[in-house]
Amino acid sequence: MDVLGIDIGGSGIKGAPVNLLTGELSADRHRIPTPDPSTPENVAEVVAAVARHFQWQGPIGCTFPAIVRHGVVYTAANVHKSWIGADAVALFERATNCPVRVLNDADAAGLAEMVLGAGKHRKGVVIMLTFGTGIGSAIFVEGHLLPNTEFGHLPIRGKDAEHRASAKVRDDEKLSWAQWAERVNEFLAQMEFFFSPDLFIIGGGVSKKQHKFMHLLKAEAEIVPAQLLNEAGIIGAALAARDQVAPLRAEATAAQPAAVEPAQGS
Ligand code: BGC
Repeated sequence: MDVLGIDIGGSGIKGAPVNLLTGELSADRHRIPTPDPSTPENVAEVVAAVARHFQWQGPIGCTFPAIVRHGVVYTAANVHKSWIGADAVALFERATNCPVRVLNDADAAGLAEMVLGAGKHRKGVVIMLTFGTGIGSAIFVEGHLLPNTEFGHLPIRGKDAEHRASAKVRDDEKLSWAQWAERVNEFLAQMEFFFSPDLFIIGGGVSKKQHKFMHLLKAEAEIVPAQLLNEAGIIGAALAARDQVAPLRAEATAAQPAAVEPAQGS
């Protein structure tokens, strides 16, 4: 079956139907610039426009760049502050008339990488980090996600890590790849001290340029680039919706935490 995956980012809102048997997009992505101001009402209108583009009537998975618990948004580091306390699921369900699941953007990208990309079949502790406007994080233990970890806000040298080492900061401060990598390495060292991961997966907007910096990143753990690049959020959102709102799987998975088994037979 297909689920519509929608990835809400600071600059664009992108969606496509995802074939859950193969993890592939079943149609070209549709992208609409993120509205300014990115208020809940404005964003919900764009989400509805993406769904209309595909004449969608079925489950939708949606990423959001903030803490999302049970469909409610708790923070707004890189979106309009009026999102804090907003019920994203209720808003998007009203706007699209479809069942919707909303989860943190890095959690979604991590799920996709664990099922279909760089984390496939990887055991132990895996940390996915996304470098874009901010720094997103997702941590998996034996394939199970601990949601909303927000490691990008870990203080390093008195600043949020994402205010020192996001891809946006690299651009804004015109850092060389080596200068930026040094800051990222400091962040990875903190992560290692706290979590002793077996693997880091490096994704987000910056992963398109992985050949420029992967060789500069250092840690005790193995470090690999994300494989799904631009599509990780869309695919991960669809996978998450499969586990929570897709009618065919709802009963079978209701008692499960966000598992990362491939969607065989769903
Ligand atoms: C937000 C996270 C998000 C990350 C990447 C951070 O500023 O707090 O929730 O995952 O940016 O978008």
